[in-house]
Amino acid sequence: MPDRFPASTRVPHLLHGGDYNPEQWIDSPEVWDQDMRLMKLAGVNIVSLGIFSWAMLEPEEGRFEFGWMDTILDKLAANGIAVNLATPTGAKPNWMAAKYEEIRRCEPNGRRDPQQARHNHCYTSPVYRAKATLINTKLAERYGKHPALVMWHISNEYGGECHCPLCKAAFRRWLQNRYASLDALNHAWWTTFWSHRYTDWSQIEAIDSGVHGLVLDWKRFVSDQTADFMRHEIEPLKRITPEVPVTTNLMGTYPVLNYWKLAEVCDVVSWDSYPEWHVGDLFDMAHGPAFAHDLTRSLKHKPFLLMESTPSQVNWNKVSPLKRPGVHRLTSLQAVAHGSDAVMYFQWRKSRGSYEKFHGAVVDHVGHENTRVFGEVAALGGTLKKLDAVVGGVTDAKAAVIYDWENRWAIDSEAGPQNQHKAYEHTCRQWHRPLWQRGVTVDVNDMVQDLSPYQLVIAPMLYMLRPGVAERLESFVQRGGTLVTTYFTGMVDQSDLCFLGGFPGPLRKLLGIWAEETDALPEGATQSVEATAKGAAFGLSGSYQAMHFADLVHVEAATCEVLATYGSDFYQGRPAATVNRVGKGRAIHIAARTEQRLLDDVANKLIDSLALPTALKTTPPTGVSVQRRGEGKDAHLFLMNFSEREQKVTLDAGNYVDIETSAKHTKIVALPAYASFVLLHE
Ligand code: GLA
Ligand code: ZN
Repeated sequence: MPDRFPASTRVPHLLHGGDYNPEQWIDSPEVWDQDMRLMKLAGVNIVSLGIFSWAMLEPEEGRFEFGWMDTILDKLAANGIAVNLATPTGAKPNWMAAKYEEIRRCEPNGRRDPQQARHNHCYTSPVYRAKATLINTKLAERYGKHPALVMWHISNEYGGECHCPLCKAAFRRWLQNRYASLDALNHAWWTTFWSHRYTDWSQIEAIDSGVHGLVLDWKRFVSDQTADFMRHEIEPLKRITPEVPVTTNLMGTYPVLNYWKLAEVCDVVSWDSYPEWHVGDLFDMAHGPAFAHDLTRSLKHKPFLLMESTPSQVNWNKVSPLKRPGVHRLTSLQAVAHGSDAVMYFQWRKSRGSYEKFHGAVVDHVGHENTRVFGEVAALGGTLKKLDAVVGGVTDAKAAVIYDWENRWAIDSEAGPQNQHKAYEHTCRQWHRPLWQRGVTVDVNDMVQDLSPYQLVIAPMLYMLRPGVAERLESFVQRGGTLVTTYFTGMVDQSDLCFLGGFPGPLRKLLGIWAEETDALPEGATQSVEATAKGAAFGLSGSYQAMHFADLVHVEAATCEVLATYGSDFYQGRPAATVNRVGKGRAIHIAARTEQRLLDDVANKLIDSLALPTALKTTPPTGVSVQRRGEGKDAHLFLMNFSEREQKVTLDAGNYVDIETSAKHTKIVALPAYASFVLLHE
């Protein structure tokens, strides 16, 4: 049983709480006592403590002040509130930045950053690493056995890159390790082009955006170096408190870091979710976190933690509407529905000054509990207490969408026929969306994960094929899997070197096609994709609009059938969608970018023909997301109305009970605007 509680065996409940910065109120300790009272009222069972407290823990070099933190941890423990204790490296004290220049990052042009803001230390600097080791060791020694400690929050939102001399040298070592010789590197990066051949490692600068292999390797290095820094941070914690899990707060699809590398270093994965609620259509907006929740859960294939979210509004967007009544509960339960074992906030209490004084918080400047936001948070705390049964469990996914950081980097950096609308991430989301709307549990994986759990794998724009990927996709299809690929697939290897002998390179045989050319459609120009009679078996009918990308493909395999053809231009009648039957499975290829309707039609047909498990047999109305979490008798049904009007959802046969109100439901449930219900099948 304990391994059903990945976050911490010490808190076998959904975690509810958030970033807590009591050091900002050190001169008004009565606020600390108010915090304890209010936290209990709000149903808070955990806080993330000390994230930006280095200057208060080590006010001058080598002088440590833990007194305030001792008091806070004791108060929290006495009030039954657990602590997710942070290592404070997300922001460095001024004295440190002034004394040790090397800990400050350099820009690509070599200029050293002044001390300002946060999240801007060098990941390579031995001084910063030593300082981190020292403070982390002291924290672990002092609080390792404290009853409040249940988790380590490592740093904060790792991100960015540094071009200092130390990082450059580390990059060159990383390259020597990868390539062994400059000849191998020159080949991989195709440096004979523009006379870029390197004759000495010291000539390598990570700023030549025209050398795509270099761009990719630099990004890989930045991810590796960040993970290495994190490993370094964790080392004393694991040595002193091996039983305390570590996490770090990720940021969804944050493009700079390959989160699979950071996930390897974490015991539990967590992320910070800040969609622009109410700026656009709420249901469209809700799909963003749905995709990111699925991605974050997939990093470990077990529950994750929603580490930060705002209970009301943020302060860093152009405009930040308030979450409408009910929407905070709705968006929080959405995270739980997708596998989060926590609903946590930035921030517990609004700070009095500086940049985040107007960022949403559970406790506002007014300082008491009689606010709308506090009321909604407290009510949600009550709801979460009734959901112990979901903790630690996830629904097994039978479908996966591939979203791969390295592929993204390669697509973002290549210069090709369509540079205006590459939209890799958007395309991955578009394929995920129909599955989400049907309530299919979907994993979002990178391209090197095991494919054996899945019946359906959708791999949009798989431009780069890392080693072994084509082989794995082929055996997935051979064994009976259904694969969907698209235009701009199978073009380069892991160094961004084009596959010779015809695209889609190593996937040519599996897909049964040769993609001879790629047409790029200018802004506003369209093509059409016309379903053939055979297309009906894959959901295609009539005509669809195409834009941006249109691959001109030839069918090569006798087993390959044409599902749609182009409707106009000189390639009218040529294949625009195909299926190749290989072994026990099928490989479907969509050769053009089209309107969402085609993706919906294909995905819906595949859900039906593969009988993929859906949360409900019927499709929820647009605006409503229904997700199932858990298996068997623990399967909780989350009904979430992301629209401003009442919606009706048709349940499967049987009796359902609302876990909060004990109301019974059969057949049709009416969901008021923004309502969210959690039901159990009786
Ligand atoms: C990030 C940070 C927090 C805070 C919030 C504000 O997620 O981790 O410290 O700045 O943004 O939205
Ligand atoms: Zn550096």
